[in-house]
Amino acid sequence: MTRHLLDIEHLARADIASLLARAGELAAGASCASRAGTVANLFLEPSTRTRVSFQMAARRLGLDVVNIEQQHSSASKGESLADTARTLAAMGVRAIVLRHPEDFAASELAAALAGAEIGIVNAGDGQHAHPSQALLDAATLAHAGFEWSGLKLAIVGDIRHSRVARSDIALLSRLGAAEIRIAGPAEFMPDPDELPEAMRMPDIDTALDGIDALICLRIQRERMAASGYLDGAAFHQRWGLTADRLAAMPDRARFLHPGPVNRGVEIADGLVDSPRALILEQVRIGVHLRTALFEWLIDAA
Ligand code: CP
Repeated sequence: MTRHLLDIEHLARADIASLLARAGELAAGASCASRAGTVANLFLEPSTRTRVSFQMAARRLGLDVVNIEQQHSSASKGESLADTARTLAAMGVRAIVLRHPEDFAASELAAALAGAEIGIVNAGDGQHAHPSQALLDAATLAHAGFEWSGLKLAIVGDIRHSRVARSDIALLSRLGAAEIRIAGPAEFMPDPDELPEAMRMPDIDTALDGIDALICLRIQRERMAASGYLDGAAFHQRWGLTADRLAAMPDRARFLHPGPVNRGVEIADGLVDSPRALILEQVRIGVHLRTALFEWLIDAA
């Protein structure tokens, strides 16, 4: 059976539980057996964390990794994504880790390759989904000791354009998080009928009241002028995590950010490295989660 990771909605509940449990074991020091084969990183958008952690995870399992850059591949000569993937499948590549600027690119690729023995991993497609980020966010919260049944979590910033927010909300609501709140400038909020699992809050201070965890989202600078925020300082003042806002959060509360962080915009510069930040823990656990993902993909084949 060929497995894919396309979005959270397509993942069986048992698979979510086993991936999170395995990531937790690996983060706690468990070893892993070697696997054979080659996987391809096909990144058609920039990435540091996701690409490097998938590469490190594959190497940890003894898998060969090929990194394909658009400008150095035959995509630059007009080859379609599906034909590139069929070519990789014909060479025996076992999985493609795909980052793509368009929504649903990973699902469309998996459908185009139906019957081929190659797994597709969505490493972020447009504004649609970033399922491995959501899984590593959940693994990070679990590793920090939070339990879903009591978890009150806020996601603040550019929700509208965020594939991370969509996948986090899909996953944390399936896991049974007690409350998921969202807040941000009106222009950065999703359409009224989208994300019904999340509670819309009028401002950041209401969103942070009594929470256990905050996920700050990256503000894409190109969208700031369109939203009426001409500079990062104005956004930070109204919607950013400041020292005062962190102090008002419960002592147990922690904050996350998928990265890359705009220091002084989403989070005050001096707080990014605070002991209450789980940002680098997300990165660390990301390697373990992606190792668990490759085990799950390769062992099913
Ligand atoms: N979180 C995330 O996707 O970061 P990169 O764009 O660096 O991979």
